[in-house]
Amino acid sequence: MGSMLFSPYRLRGLELPNRIMVGPMGQYSARDGCLGAWHLMHLGSMAISGAGLVVIEATAVNPEGRLSPRDPGLWNDEQEAALAPILAFCREFGGARIGMQITHSGRKGSVSVAWEHQRVIPVEQGGWVPRAPSPIPYPRRTPPLVLDEDGMDGLVRDFVATTRRADRLGIELLEIHSAHGYLLHNFLSPLTNQRGDAYGGSRENRMRFPLAVFDAVRSAWPAHKPLGVRISAVDWVDGGWSLDDSLAYAAALKARGCDYVTASSGGAVPEQKIAAAPGYQVPFAEAIRRATGICTVAVGLITEPRQAEDILAGGRADLVGLARRMLYDPRWPWHAAVELGEEFFYPKQYERAHPSMQSGDFLRPSRAA
Ligand SMILES: Cc1cc2nc3c(=O)[nH]c(=O)nc-3n(C[C@H](O)[C@H](O)[C@H](O)COP(=O)(O)O)c2cc1C
Repeated sequence: MGSMLFSPYRLRGLELPNRIMVGPMGQYSARDGCLGAWHLMHLGSMAISGAGLVVIEATAVNPEGRLSPRDPGLWNDEQEAALAPILAFCREFGGARIGMQITHSGRKGSVSVAWEHQRVIPVEQGGWVPRAPSPIPYPRRTPPLVLDEDGMDGLVRDFVATTRRADRLGIELLEIHSAHGYLLHNFLSPLTNQRGDAYGGSRENRMRFPLAVFDAVRSAWPAHKPLGVRISAVDWVDGGWSLDDSLAYAAALKARGCDYVTASSGGAVPEQKIAAAPGYQVPFAEAIRRATGICTVAVGLITEPRQAEDILAGGRADLVGLARRMLYDPRWPWHAAVELGEEFFYPKQYERAHPSMQSGDFLRPSRAA
């Protein structure tokens, strides 16, 4: 019997050739929100990696929605045009389906790139004022501007406009970022949402804006294309967003036509105590899957083929997401396939690297000959 990892999986009208997702990974290498040469190499190599799905990094729906000035965006024509050749490469040469994560950074925005330690960039030095549900700054960052209903309506429109651009580009799957302490997570978590209106207070109220964004994006995104949501399943802080909250959120998302939930965690506040260990977030994916029946993606320190296979075979998740491991070893899916006795996708140009072609002389021109 074949492995689960290399079995196909259907999300609405999209057939994934296998269960390996390359998680979204910010590269801090965009200019004016436009992807460029680095992304062609990075996403191109992920597209030919043998993974079933590659999700393009968190892409902002407006300028203030970026985390750093080097984050990508998809709010103007120039950004849309810059993505086109990268997607064309992935389509022509890759085996993976291509999705995109769309985001607003909320109260964490206006910082330097990761390798410059995400230090605050003040407005006077070219930064911007972050947006948030409540006037509670992330420590050592610019105090946010509190969103009023007009601001929230504008944001919903920005999410919709980005969704339309993504569709026009032929992106096949969309993921809304509602994790890691960014805007939608700011609304969900009681640690960062202390509003007194219909968008704060009870869990139902705190979920209202993220669900409104979901509904608007779902309506603008074609019915045959899958839409998922990345959540922080817990805040890792007493009194913060909890797994129970996530079960309620996932159930509400499912009822609205959400196709999958990726169970990440943390990011709301620096006091979090994250118990990171191999597969440490898998129990969240499992609990959400069992309680709601929604397709879940397990992510976080999944590094070994057998580990990934066991997660799927044990019914703990439907897909596995890999991030850092794929940067370290972009051929991980090939190696996993060999270990699990499966065939795998490779571009014709690299055919002679296939294990069946690596022994003996190099003069045989192709596998079929
Ligand atoms: C360089 C880098 C950039 C990341 N950028 C994003 C992002 O844009 N959106 C997101 O939801 N998660 C992001 N993450 C989190 C990963 O998608 C993933 O959830 C996390 O790294 C845990 O998986 P891993 O142990 O396989 O790396 C990023 C992680 C890394 C290492």
